[in-house]
Amino acid sequence: MHVTLIAGARPNFMKIASIINAIKEAQSEGKDITYRLVHTGQHYDANMSGQFFDQLNIPKPDVDLGCGGGSHAEQTANIMLKFEKDLIEHPTDLVIVVGDVNSTMACSIVAKKLHTKVAHVEGGIRSGDWTMPEEINRIVTDSITDYFFTTSETANQNLLKSGISTDQIFFVGNTMIDTLLRNLDRLQKPEFWDKHSLEDGAYFVMTLHRPNNVDEGQHLKRLLDTVIEKSRDLPVIFPVHPRTMTSLKELGISYPNLHMVDPMGYLEFIYIVKNAKMVITDSGGITEETTVLGVPCITLRNSTERPETVEIGTNELLGTDPSAIPAALDTLFDGKWKKGQIPEKWDGKTGDRIVKCLSALERG
Ligand code: UD1
Repeated sequence: MHVTLIAGARPNFMKIASIINAIKEAQSEGKDITYRLVHTGQHYDANMSGQFFDQLNIPKPDVDLGCGGGSHAEQTANIMLKFEKDLIEHPTDLVIVVGDVNSTMACSIVAKKLHTKVAHVEGGIRSGDWTMPEEINRIVTDSITDYFFTTSETANQNLLKSGISTDQIFFVGNTMIDTLLRNLDRLQKPEFWDKHSLEDGAYFVMTLHRPNNVDEGQHLKRLLDTVIEKSRDLPVIFPVHPRTMTSLKELGISYPNLHMVDPMGYLEFIYIVKNAKMVITDSGGITEETTVLGVPCITLRNSTERPETVEIGTNELLGTDPSAIPAALDTLFDGKWKKGQIPEKWDGKTGDRIVKCLSALERG
């Protein structure tokens, strides 16, 4: 079987790494499986893309479509134009897309229109929030996907409810957690650790990049003010996404214990997450990582497509209104944060399960 793997934006790279590792292992066992790696170029800065390939030993993509920036329509259309050409020149048995970014949706549409089967890794998750571009990407992708590789029972149920048949759904677990577990003994202390006098369990990590948290300056300022006010002077490490930087520059915010740093490499970022007192985020993927690492986490969003991180894991969904933050931090400082457990099949073996499914599908 020959598959084409699509990677476009930062959260895709950890997922693709797991699948490539599993393919390489299958190849070393003599299995007949080959792949072509397509980078759409949605994320293009070295610190948003290149360093993940280096740190996670992901091979250089076979092609980079160079489609970064632009509005949603421009970005999606550019990816479709370029990928259509690439797929016609390099036909494949299956296009594998991961996650919920614009590249995921754009490439699945192109593949399906060229009569190529599509597999969606992380299919079936839903936030129910149609104002999120990711939710639209998920729904469009899943409406034309042939094979769903899912992370949770909730995802399976969402798909069944939408009329997908059981033989299209493969509950395999979480590729992002494969990469997390594989790299735990390679983590790297970031250079700023000593400069900011960080100590294990005595600092916060914060990440914010959702348009409804960061695009409106005064809202972003209120979030930051509240976190800082309740942080009991512990350092708050804030790796700043390019989108968030645009808003922050206009605000001119500065606090002695708020440390804004560039987007970090994977090995350094997981190091600071693993040792943090708490993570404050609006990302979905990070809540999966904190769940497995057992690190307290609050999500500044009104919904999550990953309910298991709240129901089973260490995550609490607080909403985007800063007024919910003080009570959560009081619970944390009182030592009463929930301990959490690890969701089913988040065990480091998901990539292998996916490759086994692919072999079974090929045999029919
Ligand atoms: C994208 C994904 C989001 C994911 C996030 C992780 C979509 C709809 N959104 O959001 O689901 O959680 O990635 O980071 O696909 N930029 C740079 N350098 C880069 C990448 C982006 O300067 O390497 C700039 C872009 O030019 C753009 C802005 O950052 O102005 C946003 O990038 P974009 O890829 O459109 O969306 P993200 O907000 O990164």
